Order: sequence, then C-alpha cells, then structure tokens
Amino acid sequence: MPLRVVVAGATGVVGRTLLPLLRDRGHHVTALVRHADRLDGAVAVDDVAVADVLDPPRLRRELARVEPEVVIDQTSGFGGAGQDEGLRRTARLRENGARNLVDAAVAVGARRIIGQSMTAAYRPHGHDVLDEDSPLWTEAPGCWGDAVRALAAMEEAVLTRPDIEGVALRYGALYGPDTQFAPGGAIHARVCGSELPLVDDGVGLTSFTHVEDAAGAVLELLASGEPGTYNVVDNEPAESAEWLPAYARMAGGPAPVSLTMDQARTQLDWLTVHQLTEQRGATNFRLRETLGWRPAWPSWREGFASLFGLWAA
Ligand SMILES: NC(=O)c1ccc[n+]([C@@H]2O[C@H](COP(=O)([O-])OP(=O)(O)OC[C@H]3O[C@@H](n4cnc5c(N)ncnc54)[C@H](OP(=O)(O)O)[C@@H]3O)[C@@H](O)[C@H]2O)c1
Repeated sequence: MPLRVVVAGATGVVGRTLLPLLRDRGHHVTALVRHADRLDGAVAVDDVAVADVLDPPRLRRELARVEPEVVIDQTSGFGGAGQDEGLRRTARLRENGARNLVDAAVAVGARRIIGQSMTAAYRPHGHDVLDEDSPLWTEAPGCWGDAVRALAAMEEAVLTRPDIEGVALRYGALYGPDTQFAPGGAIHARVCGSELPLVDDGVGLTSFTHVEDAAGAVLELLASGEPGTYNVVDNEPAESAEWLPAYARMAGGPAPVSLTMDQARTQLDWLTVHQLTEQRGATNFRLRETLGWRPAWPSWREGFASLFGLWAA
C-alpha cells in the first residue's frame, strides 16, 4: 500500500539512495532538507519540506503540512567533518534532532518512525559477533562515549513512545559511492597515505554495510516488522588484519604498515586503535529471520571490489 513518507537527510549518501527506491514502490515521498538547492535535481521526489531537525517549530510546521505516515531519519553530521567533529555533530543530531523528529511525528499522527543507529556502538564483550540484545557501550571514553550515549538516547526516544512504532536501524561501517571508503573519502585517503596501519594482531572486527543495503533495509521495515532494533550489516564481519590489506590492495594503495600496540597508542587516536584491535562485529540474524531480508552485498569483498571497478555485479 502506498504510504506518505518523509525522509530527513534526503541529500546524504543513504538518503539519496533511498528516495528513488521509495518512489519505485509507489510511495509519496517528501524530502526533508535544510537547503532545497542541495537536493540533486536528478532525484525525483513528490514534495520538498525545508526544515532543520534542530528547529522544532519549523519541523513540526512542515510535518503538519505533509502529514506523513512514516518518518525516516537519515541525518548525519559526518559529511565533510573530521572524526571528532563528525562525532560531535552526529551526537547532537541523534540526541536532539531525533527527539524533535519523534515529537513532530507523534504530533502529526505518523504511524512509524525509523531512526539511524550504529553497530559500532556495542560494548566489546563476550562473543565476537553481537546481536541486538547486546548493550551499547555508553560508558566508553572520550567523545566516543558521548556519541554512544547520544545514540542510546536516540534509540530510547524512537523506541519507547507508546503512540508511534519505533524502529532503530543499526548500520555497520557504511561504504559505497560517496562514502569515506570511496576515492576522495577519509578512509581512502588514510589508507593511501599509509596512515591506517595494522595494529598488533589486528583482531578488531568491523561489520560493513553497503549504502544500497542501508537503504534497502528501510524498505523492508517501512510498514512491516516489529518495532525495535535491527542490525543492518553484511554477512561477513572482518578483522582489520583481513579487510585493511584487502582494501589497500583494491584501492591501489601501499600495503598497511604494522605497529605494536605501544606504538599505536602514541601515534593514533584512541577510537582508531579501538576499532582496529577490540571492536566487535554484529550479526544480521534478526533481520534475516524475521523479515527474510538478505543483503544485496553479502560481503565487503565484492563491495569494495565494486567500489574500485574490479567487480562486475
Ligand atoms: N555509520 C557509519 O558507518 C559512519 C561513521 C562515520 C562516517 N561515516 C560516513 O559518513 C557519511 C555518512 O553518510 P550519511 O548519508 O549518513 O551522511 P551524509 O552523506 O553526510 O548526509 C547527512 C545528511 O544529514 C543532513 N543533515 C545534517 N544536519 C542536519 C540538520 N540539522 N537538519 C536536517 N538535516 C541535516 C544533511 O543535510 P545537508 O545537505 O543540509 O547537509 C544530509 O542530508 C558517509 O560518508 C559515511 O561513510 C559513516
């Protein structure tokens, strides 16, 4: 059944990918943007709502005009920012922007809200691959801790309001065209500049999500699926000792240098060391079992290869 859908963050890498998929399914799609001129003219939408999610009165006015049944939050503060600044901006969006969106969605009678979270936020413990019942690492140090607490606050805002169905999609490391893994992106630059080394035995796990799968999972959960949290990741969590050299090879960059843990602690930021050495992966079992979802990109291997024109899909 066609739905009236609002996408916040419509100009972002996930938002841009999602808009045509929604329209192809016959939904009435409104792009919620801060600046209408940032919306790519090639992307067709039914309506444009101009509002900053950090401006509650304007946001509510626009949603009241559009009367959506589903509100999707794909905002992020990472675009164009360094790691710490991106985390700070995203934390603000998750903590305040998400609450504003939930309030506005409830006020206009929307049926469902879909928020964006991260599998990287799980506290590293126990098994290598964590499911949705694993705790978020809200006591993590530094600005990573601030970011995870903001994610937890966002999930609470989205999931606990009795008058709306809340879904929180926990994405893995987003990759694909225009992401930080693509040529010109931050990870690409760090790998090609020999700034992302192998640390110790490189057992930190990353679960990856292609942007097409990030968008595809939203379609699955638009009107079906129980409210709650869902990991949206590929089938192959990978140790940094595995994906980093493979990525460097495919990107045509130098092989990563190796550092001991002591060297890494003096040369790299805390978050990078954590990701490379102790982060855990996530399982997509819940989404597969409950909705039959399958990632279009089941492994980062093909996904990275496609990013560099080495794989014919
Ligand atoms: N989850 C992860 O794995 C992760 C972690 C770190 C970095 N990254 C990288 O970060 C990027 C994330 O992609 P993305 O699509 O999430 O983000 P993005 O491409 O940076 O897009 C962010 C979206 O949020 C919108 N936005 C930001 N602040 C807003 C506000 N106050 N009110 C309304 N809209 C607002 C932006 O609109 P404007 O056009 O107005 O700016 C834009 O549409 C990728 O390059 C990814 O590789 C991802």
